[in-house]
Amino acid sequence: MKTRVLITGAAGFLGYHLVFLLNGDFEVAGTFHNHLASAVPVQFFKIDLAQPVTVEDCIERFKPGYVVHCAASADVDWCEKNPDEAMAINRDGSVVIAEICARHGIRIIHISTDLVFDGEKGDYIESDLPNPINVYGKSKLAAEETVSDISSDNIIFRVALLYGPDSPHKKGYVKDTMDKIRRGERVRFFADQIRTPLYTADAAQAIESAINTNTPGGIYHIGGAEKLSRLQFGLKMQEIYGFEKDLILPSIMADVPSMVARPKDVSFVISKATQSFGYLPTPLHSVLKTILA
Ligand SMILES: NC(=O)c1ccc[n+]([C@@H]2O[C@H](COP(=O)([O-])OP(=O)(O)OC[C@H]3O[C@@H](n4cnc5c(N)ncnc54)[C@H](OP(=O)(O)O)[C@@H]3O)[C@@H](O)[C@H]2O)c1
Repeated sequence: MKTRVLITGAAGFLGYHLVFLLNGDFEVAGTFHNHLASAVPVQFFKIDLAQPVTVEDCIERFKPGYVVHCAASADVDWCEKNPDEAMAINRDGSVVIAEICARHGIRIIHISTDLVFDGEKGDYIESDLPNPINVYGKSKLAAEETVSDISSDNIIFRVALLYGPDSPHKKGYVKDTMDKIRRGERVRFFADQIRTPLYTADAAQAIESAINTNTPGGIYHIGGAEKLSRLQFGLKMQEIYGFEKDLILPSIMADVPSMVARPKDVSFVISKATQSFGYLPTPLHSVLKTILA
């Protein structure tokens, strides 16, 4: 019998792709809150993380072996303006999921972020001390801590900046950038925001491997194959897609003083995931070639 996997936030950018990529190897169901993803070949449940009864009902009906908890308020700017709501969804909503799963003996793969770090060091390993510098990062760190406290069997996947094809309700970074470029707009790329950008399909592969190998609970860093700044990412896009180089506007974060604080270098070391369940991300240039194809 296939393992049942429930994906929360399955109409979101990551969740939507996970549904397609994990369905088949596992028996998958998804949850939505406001947006039902159409044309998805799995069962969907409406839940509200602020209403524990809706979560309990969904879990009792589907009886998953794993919950991949993607649902969150993932918009850094919105979280900064709405700190109470951000904490309610990201921290308290995760506690709701974790408590219900613990009662039913269900393991969680909790999706967290590289933004739990302050970005002063870079090349972060799992034992490095988090120190988030914005509300979003703080709410995601608070969620990680409580999910781990509720059961040490729970898996925390800190995922890096995600890129990949669009989902129905959110444009991917690459497509969004290319749409602007095609309209002849200059696009700002920061030289001082360094990440290990992660292809959505690689995130799915990591989740699949972690489930198949029954990997122990704990924190894992899931990043892409390369460490690079947003500017280097833009230059790579320019090299592969061949648009005018002067449509790239090199910039640093200080050029936009109104912007919510973001850390400088939150790149990941991924060797724990590689050693634990064979995680190997795809090189950026091959992903970029497939995304727009
Ligand atoms: N995107 C990135 O680059 C990135 C990087 C690192 C980590 N992450 C993490 O990865 C996860 C997925 O991010 P994403 O970019 O895919 O986010 P997203 O596209 O904004 O999707 C978030 C999902 O959460 C659901 N949701 C929001 N509030 C809810 C509530 N009260 N009850 C139930 N569901 C609710 C939404 O459902 P509806 O749409 O149906 O309302 C949506 O499907 C998040 O945990 C995020 O923190 C993302």
